Amino acid sequence: MNAASPDICVVGGGIIGLATACELAGRGLRVTVVEAASIGERAAAGVAAGMIGPVSEVDVSHPDLTRFALASHRDYPAWIEQIEAVSHIRTGFDRTGTLWVAVHRDHVAWLEHLRAFQIDRGLNTIRLTAGEVRAREPLIAPNTSGGLLASDDWQVDPRRLLGALIEVLAQYHGTLLQQVSVERVERCDEGWAVVAGGERGRTRIEARSVLLAPGAYGTGLLEPLLRDTGLRPVKGQVARLRGEIDVHHVIRTPDVYLVPRADGEVVIGATVEEMGFDGRVTAGAVHDLLREARRALPGIAELELVEVRAGFRPVLRDHLPAVGRIDEGLFIAVGHYRNGVALAPITARLLADLICEGVADQILAPFNPLRFAQPLVANAVPT
Ligand code: GLY
Repeated sequence: MNAASPDICVVGGGIIGLATACELAGRGLRVTVVEAASIGERAAAGVAAGMIGPVSEVDVSHPDLTRFALASHRDYPAWIEQIEAVSHIRTGFDRTGTLWVAVHRDHVAWLEHLRAFQIDRGLNTIRLTAGEVRAREPLIAPNTSGGLLASDDWQVDPRRLLGALIEVLAQYHGTLLQQVSVERVERCDEGWAVVAGGERGRTRIEARSVLLAPGAYGTGLLEPLLRDTGLRPVKGQVARLRGEIDVHHVIRTPDVYLVPRADGEVVIGATVEEMGFDGRVTAGAVHDLLREARRALPGIAELELVEVRAGFRPVLRDHLPAVGRIDEGLFIAVGHYRNGVALAPITARLLADLICEGVADQILAPFNPLRFAQPLVANAVPT
């Protein structure tokens, strides 16, 4: 099969690939997205809770990453507004905020540390007494010793967001190919050829540019292009409950997060495990998640357990994403680790600037993919 030549072929239909594809299609490029599975099946975002916590979720030992996350946070409201306006799909974007709760003494010091970071980065955060925590969320455990209200820590429903992005892509006349597994990219007269197989047979897509956004599954694709990226999956097990529970904030302790949705879903996560692509859900992990969640919010015990699933966060050797140009016409966005949903708007916008206008924002400099040595790509152009 030969798909008609687009301007750009995006390899990977996760949150980063789709967000960037939509941004490019919105700027008038002919875009084809190729996804190895069905959308949401393998994507980390298909399992993710969707917290947008630019300081509490991002590893604060990387100031460059925090800066990137804060920039993405600033983009979020307008980005969502645009997606919902074009797709007519509600994404579950919610700015109620996050209530960090101390359920034992060690948590108190941890939350003070977090509060200092949030204030330092200009985010809204206030310390709450136990009474103030329970005044905001009466179902929080009575033994709580206080907490923090992080009103700039928001949430979105990643599954709805993926659905909305698919619709946006369609509205912008982009093409989405699912169940097409890309084997390699190679130079061609047009620019780059994406060579793939799948249920529909062989596919070769020639395009002026290619963006690789393969998530945790990209090792084989990256190996010939970048050396020693260390790309690997970091497993996260997540439980989903459903039922009526009167909780409105995202609830977090240093040990667990609970993300309540308007539709009655409560997402509880997540483990962080170096297990390769071991997709099993384990009794111990589910037990630990539910135990910690119940400690913070005892009422969850009455809810129905509707799903337990493992997903794979993509992480690179230095725990920073790679966002930029590998070679003329060849771009990459991978390694967003715990922050794919949070970093999607800024990644999409700045990559589109780079791809369409050749302009690399300075904020991308620490994420230059060329920090990984290149074995095969000739004439590499630094971002
Ligand atoms: N961003 C939440 C997680 O990766 O568990």
